[in-house]
Amino acid sequence: MTVHESVLDAVGETPLVRLVRVTSGLQPAVYGKVEFSNPGGSVKDRAALAMVREAERTGALPPTGGVIVEATSGNTGVGLAMVAAQHGHRAVCVVPNTIAREKVTLLQAYGAEVVQTIGTLPREHPDHVKNLAASIAARTPGGWYANQYDNPANPLVHELTTGPEIWTQTGGRVTHLVAGIGTGGTITGTGRFLSRHGVTVVGADPEASVYGGGDGSPYYVESVGHYRHPATVGEDSPDVYDPAVVDRIIRVPDRESLGVTRALAREEGLLVGGSSGCAVAAALRLAAELGPDDLVVVVLPDSGRNYLSKYFDDGWMTRFGFQDAAAGPRVRDVLPPADGLAVAPAGAPVSEVLRAHRAGPVAVIVPRESGDPTRSAPEVLGVVTVEALRALLDAEPGRADDDVARHAVRAPAVGAGEAVAAAATRLGAVDEPAGEHVLLLVDGRVVAVRPAAPLRG
Ligand SMILES: Cc1ncc(COP(=O)(O)O)c(C=O)c1O
Repeated sequence: MTVHESVLDAVGETPLVRLVRVTSGLQPAVYGKVEFSNPGGSVKDRAALAMVREAERTGALPPTGGVIVEATSGNTGVGLAMVAAQHGHRAVCVVPNTIAREKVTLLQAYGAEVVQTIGTLPREHPDHVKNLAASIAARTPGGWYANQYDNPANPLVHELTTGPEIWTQTGGRVTHLVAGIGTGGTITGTGRFLSRHGVTVVGADPEASVYGGGDGSPYYVESVGHYRHPATVGEDSPDVYDPAVVDRIIRVPDRESLGVTRALAREEGLLVGGSSGCAVAAALRLAAELGPDDLVVVVLPDSGRNYLSKYFDDGWMTRFGFQDAAAGPRVRDVLPPADGLAVAPAGAPVSEVLRAHRAGPVAVIVPRESGDPTRSAPEVLGVVTVEALRALLDAEPGRADDDVARHAVRAPAVGAGEAVAAAATRLGAVDEPAGEHVLLLVDGRVVAVRPAAPLRG
């Protein structure tokens, strides 16, 4: 048994655990690299420790008494806060307001200061997570911006530890590595080492993420993939991600990622987060193409304890349209299927919207190039009706050039499979918008705008 003189010495050397039930019927062995075994609870402990050590070595951060600032969806922040506690630094974490609340509480528990900002801002916006973190570091005495996205210590630590561990643990038998891509540090570093040994490197990516060719719209698996604001102009891929290391990317719909996440807890006894579910879903698709001599290792970045209020909460899952309520009647029973979603981009003049649509409700959306007839829920800004716009122009013809978004009314969202009673109760809540329409969600995407009356009773 190992005894450590510091919690930081316990980072790394995580176990490989064979997946036995979710893999039934598949020929290759599939092993999960259980990164929640790190003392801070995630794979990001490795990068956090490596980045701080390197910054202290180069003098970018004093050996003690400095201020570590980072843009993080949570886990890197926990790793940095843990290292900060040991080395006598302060930690400031800038997080998107979309992350699970457990992650915020967790950062605060480690003594980190948490600054929340809007998660869906263009890369150029001064309050974008990365810009805000950089500016806080610059104006704080002793401040250092860790910048996991561009910091070479991030992928390097995986090349020096995660990759060699997997090689040794499998006795050199590993043939395929599967990992999600957030900053890209894990897949780039681990993949760089393993590909030198002939291992095929496979990225697992949420379907909407741009890494695998998605439209960049918001998705629901936290911490992996790449969201892209439609107003972002330049290249905003992290420097640490080297796509040349990745042989192939498997795109996974959110429903499948979340389904596998839940199955891993119930069938394997492995309580892991959504990015693990995404990676395992990709590994299972891959394994279906492989034979008995192949050995797949899939990285499981963190624990499901971070997501009890989301992926493991049946209410959350039904509200966002990822599953059906156990008992009916359900929302789709009282709001029969409509003819799809009529949309108008924010910024369009009212007159143009009236030329494009003849009647009924129209969803006002964040403008985005997409071949998808549905829209990610966060990108529906509100609802206008053709009738109300016509009445507006009849009364005030001078409003024809108004931005349609000025006339959009916020609408509550309901899951298509949500129990009618649950949806009705929620619509009555004070913090829900009181409009005439609801947004009908399937798999976290708006599929139709429907009247709210049948639910309001
Ligand atoms: C839960 C989780 N999964 C996956 C990742 C992605 O890892 P990487 O940034 O090394 O690509 C992260 C990174 O923050 C994470 O927190």
